[in-house]
Amino acid sequence: MPDSYHFPDTSPRVRILHLTDPHLFANDQQQLLGINTAKSFQAVLNGVMETSFDYDFILATGDLVQDHNREAYHRFAQMVKPLAKPIFWVEGNHDIQPQMGEILALYGQIYPHRHLLVGEKWQIILLNSQIHGVPRGALSAEELAFLQEKLTAHPERYALIALHHNLLPTHSAWLDQHSLQNVDELAKVLQPFSNVRAILHGHIHQEVDNRWQGYRVLATPSTCIQFKPHCEAFTLDAIPQGWREIELLPDGSIHTEVKRLKRAFLPQFNAEGY
Ligand SMILES: [Fe+2]
Repeated sequence: MPDSYHFPDTSPRVRILHLTDPHLFANDQQQLLGINTAKSFQAVLNGVMETSFDYDFILATGDLVQDHNREAYHRFAQMVKPLAKPIFWVEGNHDIQPQMGEILALYGQIYPHRHLLVGEKWQIILLNSQIHGVPRGALSAEELAFLQEKLTAHPERYALIALHHNLLPTHSAWLDQHSLQNVDELAKVLQPFSNVRAILHGHIHQEVDNRWQGYRVLATPSTCIQFKPHCEAFTLDAIPQGWREIELLPDGSIHTEVKRLKRAFLPQFNAEGY
């Protein structure tokens, strides 16, 4: 694993763009439950470029591709190029390694680092919560040890943790069986540290700004299909695709807002799963 990436020159306010779950295909005409995921991702990227939010870097929290195809990772890398900002990423349940890392490493804009030292006040720790071959997630002993090591090494910094899977239930039974399985182990690692300010994730294709064990938990809409919260069975939402703007302040506070497209890409609402 590469060393920490150090952004020495960010302004006292660190600004981050969060993109998640684009579910791209090798074929740019292919749809996921009625949505062309390349087109909806492009619309989100256009939306980002139309705003005045001047971010330092991008966090992409997994499910970059849908079809386990190397070409889809090339598509992701080529599509984000015009943003011209560094990108850091983690695996989602739909991603495939080592292909993901191999392809993304070909692009100078996309970094493999899992630990970022940002300015003087913040660190960002990226965790792989993928369990090979299944939709649910877990943090391995190695990932938990990595988290503990970084929190111990930088007690003077506030911490933002990013991963793919959700910690809190969405109250949709079909989706909640796929959440992070070992939340208690994560809580145990975090417990001695008072400087963890938020945990950021994707996976559930819906917005969350809530509390888990006292920690702020933020989830961001997918750039393609949206899952409706509080639904027993698989249900898609008509709400527009989006992204999240995050600002980390030197006093440890966080300003954040989800932005959405003006018009939604609508899916096939009769779909029973994906
Ligand atoms: Fe996803």
